[in-house]
Amino acid sequence: LASIEVNVASVEPGMSLTVKWRGKPIFIRNRTQKEIDEANAVKLTDLKDPVARNANLDPAAQATDVDRSAGAGKENWIVMVGSCTHLGCVPLGQAGDFGGWFCPCHGSHYDTAGRVRKGPAPENLHIPTFAFSSDTVIKIG
Ligand code: FES
Repeated sequence: LASIEVNVASVEPGMSLTVKWRGKPIFIRNRTQKEIDEANAVKLTDLKDPVARNANLDPAAQATDVDRSAGAGKENWIVMVGSCTHLGCVPLGQAGDFGGWFCPCHGSHYDTAGRVRKGPAPENLHIPTFAFSSDTVIKIG
């Protein structure tokens, strides 16, 4: 199937869900305000990869927190391919030095916006094509 629909009604702030899409894990997280604030406090010039890597935006879009999220008004939601951009291991959630994700294979740390901050990963975690098809349903693909 090219696309899937995921009901996120039960995913409270601070909770995550992992689903499979095209054979890959997709991380869906309902971020807390603290996680959003932490990501917003980071300067783009401090990022290893300043590009949003968001399939829903222009390829040149910058890795601001809002452009890494589901967009204005839905900044709490982040949807990413759960595949480390180094060699493809599955990162662990709410782990690592930046409170986001940590890849145990070779030690890549991602922040609360899924942006790589430390370690060998070259790019931010990728964001797949997705959209909210209702207030509580995300269509991926
Ligand atoms: Fe994630 Fe190497 S595969 S750090």
